[in-house]
Amino acid sequence: MKEKNFLIYTNDPIQTKHLGAFLGKVGHEGIVICLEGDLGAGKTTLTQGLAASLHCGSASSPTFNLMNIYEGDVPIYHFDLYRLNSEDDLYEIGFYEYVQEDGEIIIIEWPDRFPSSIPEDNLYIKIYEQENNRRKITVTLNGTKYQNQYEELKKLCQSLQ
Ligand SMILES: Nc1ncnc2c1ncn2[C@@H]1O[C@H](COP(=O)(O)OP(=O)(O)O)[C@@H](O)[C@H]1O
Ligand SMILES: [Mg+2]
Repeated sequence: MKEKNFLIYTNDPIQTKHLGAFLGKVGHEGIVICLEGDLGAGKTTLTQGLAASLHCGSASSPTFNLMNIYEGDVPIYHFDLYRLNSEDDLYEIGFYEYVQEDGEIIIIEWPDRFPSSIPEDNLYIKIYEQENNRRKITVTLNGTKYQNQYEELKKLCQSLQ
């Protein structure tokens, strides 16, 4: 099957938060979202937009926590694999149990640290910093479970451009 992906640009953090809100909209019945990008790319900013759209209060960077849980309309489990040393740590924080459950939003920052631990079905988002606050963002559908969510997201994103 041809890889499904699309590309969008955001011009400021607010637009990136809008993308996060779209993800919350399409993913409110449960989804796994991977967020790849350098430090300062906007992964947490996007997550804040998602969390706010589901009335979860404020999301913060989990880099110092490894995992944050936000309780809103839908539970959001926000992982940051940046400072994890080994896959054993993933067991310790309960990662594999959380990602098996349905009906919650799983956000994984730095999925590229432990690619073999990431669920096969996911929406994979990469954020690239450009000049003047612009971000190039690619969205890829991995597996087929979230195909409908992917298509709906693609439509919503057309309104951002
Ligand atoms: N288009 C944009 N999208 C997202 N963040 C942006 C954008 N332009 C500027 N920024 C700024 O870049 C920083 C991104 O930080 P953060 O979301 O914590 O990154 P990460 O979690 O990827 O390390 C924030 O200070 C944000 O205000
Ligand atoms: Mg971050």
